[in-house]
Amino acid sequence: MNYAGTSWSSDFFGCSQANAFLCRCTPNRFPKGAPWTRYHGDYKGLHIDLVWPGKDPVLGVDSVGTVSAALVTYASIQLLKPDLIINAGTAGGFKARGAGIGDVFLASDVAFHDRRIPIPVFDSYGIGARKTFETPNIVKELNLKVGKLSTGDSLDMSPHDETAILSNEATVKDMEGAAVAYVADLFSTPAIFVKAVTDIVDGEKPTAEEFLQNLISVTMALDQAVLQVVDFISGKCISDL
Ligand code: ADE
Repeated sequence: MNYAGTSWSSDFFGCSQANAFLCRCTPNRFPKGAPWTRYHGDYKGLHIDLVWPGKDPVLGVDSVGTVSAALVTYASIQLLKPDLIINAGTAGGFKARGAGIGDVFLASDVAFHDRRIPIPVFDSYGIGARKTFETPNIVKELNLKVGKLSTGDSLDMSPHDETAILSNEATVKDMEGAAVAYVADLFSTPAIFVKAVTDIVDGEKPTAEEFLQNLISVTMALDQAVLQVVDFISGKCISDL
């Protein structure tokens, strides 16, 4: 889930000074009616656009899930032309694959677990498995775990989802990553996925309860991790990551 409580924990887009110039040449607002919010500024030589999907206009809750994530990613790429997307958020983790509460993962791969189309080739399209932009030096330098991320539009996990998540070999499960990756790939924009574990999917506690219990402390860990990633990126070329 992309959590909106603190500045670093929503979707986050970085672009260079050159892109800041490009941004000035295009309309610099999201379309009227969209709940998406952009905060931006310069930090250690980077131009940073922090994009938050915002609240559902009718229900007033955070706009979680793949539809909102894909739309805001598309609009942000068009508007901001980022050099790199950092999709930061919370995730459920599988203890059987080494995840614990508060761990922060960098996703090596993403895929969907709730798009079942049992027709040849459409099956692979539905799963939408892809590798993320490789950042071996970030992995080496920062103390982040690495694992595969599986995305679906539910916080809980149905038996169907569980089978698909196992088949995706996922260590963490979220509600946005594979959708962001799909759009980023369409427009050849490198994207990385930083996910902090709020709940253990294969544990004893009910997911929603455990998620809410750990949300504040875990998003603080996420803040720190994203800040470390941004600090590492500062002064480097994309090929040095
Ligand atoms: N975000 C945090 N926990 C999650 C879970 N269990 N499933 C999907 N997204 C999440």
